[in-house]
Amino acid sequence: MRKKVTVVGAGNVGATTAQRIFELGYADVVLTDVIPDLPQGKALDILESGPLVGSDAKIVGSNGYDETAGSDLVIVTAGVPRKPGMSRDDLVLTNLKIVSSIIGEVVRFSPHSIILMVTNPLDAMTQAALELSRFPRSRLFGMAGVLDTARFRTFIAQELNVSVEEVQAYVLGGHGDTMVPLVHTTTVAGVPITDLLEGEKIDRIVQRTRDGGGEIVKLLKAGSAYYAPSAAIVEMAESILLDRKRILPGCSYLEGEYGIRGLCVGVPVKLGAKGVEQVIEVKLSHEEMAALQKSAAAVKELVELMHRSEVAKAS
Ligand code: APR
Repeated sequence: MRKKVTVVGAGNVGATTAQRIFELGYADVVLTDVIPDLPQGKALDILESGPLVGSDAKIVGSNGYDETAGSDLVIVTAGVPRKPGMSRDDLVLTNLKIVSSIIGEVVRFSPHSIILMVTNPLDAMTQAALELSRFPRSRLFGMAGVLDTARFRTFIAQELNVSVEEVQAYVLGGHGDTMVPLVHTTTVAGVPITDLLEGEKIDRIVQRTRDGGGEIVKLLKAGSAYYAPSAAIVEMAESILLDRKRILPGCSYLEGEYGIRGLCVGVPVKLGAKGVEQVIEVKLSHEEMAALQKSAAAVKELVELMHRSEVAKAS
């Protein structure tokens, strides 16, 4: 029997994610959104591509949660995206309201599911969802580092004119200006990036990676990135659905790892059928450790703002 995946939010990120999962063919998909008929229309359109892409998976759209019951994996993409000039943090209270209205339903209809958060600001939304769901940290976490790492790898591959597959890298920390590309462990076919590129060039690539989401928002004018984000979601989803046990950067609740306790921050995690099966502690340089702490402090500030808000008090 195929696994069941629910995608909450049938906008750019959600619908593209649903399409990608449907095309892979090993999971049935429920696409849900508050806009009447929108998820039904998109799901039917995707379903009708089945004979062309060779997928026998099922996909349905819904405006409620009945259809989502018993999902193995629930991907939450519902929320407002950024507009030019906005930071991800500017979305916090609007998206907190949306996430708060969703998590209770997901828990009620799919109490044993794994929840993958995508709504921004990602780290704060993951933390809010974890607190609302009361799920163990293994079954609720967020996607950001895989996307940031993909951007970092793309820019390095472009600079060196090599295949993206030769570039091994990790971007940790929060999904924002304080994210932490791990330069000293980044390699190209095993060769340290620091042996291949001048410091100044590396710094430029790091900065472009940090601004990667903003660069797309500026170009799109209405809305934010969704092709690379949906591909990043699918990389994590696949490791869970196929129990691949890949080690990928994910936003996970930390219980003392990296000296951080009680916060959701991006770190390498082992993803398998049980969700986050292990938080991996890699050795960081002093600089990277300091940058990770700074990133965690930025996440903490947002979480505190959320805790003080009326939305949090009401839920
Ligand atoms: N339940 C279900 N869907 C909802 C809800 C809700 N309570 N509230 C809003 N939505 C839906 C909207 O109707 C819309 O279809 O979420 C969808 C969001 O889609 P887009 O506006 O296209 O935004 P998208 O680009 O998909 O980004 C969604 O992911 O990457 C992040 O920053 C991004 O937080 C944003 C989220």
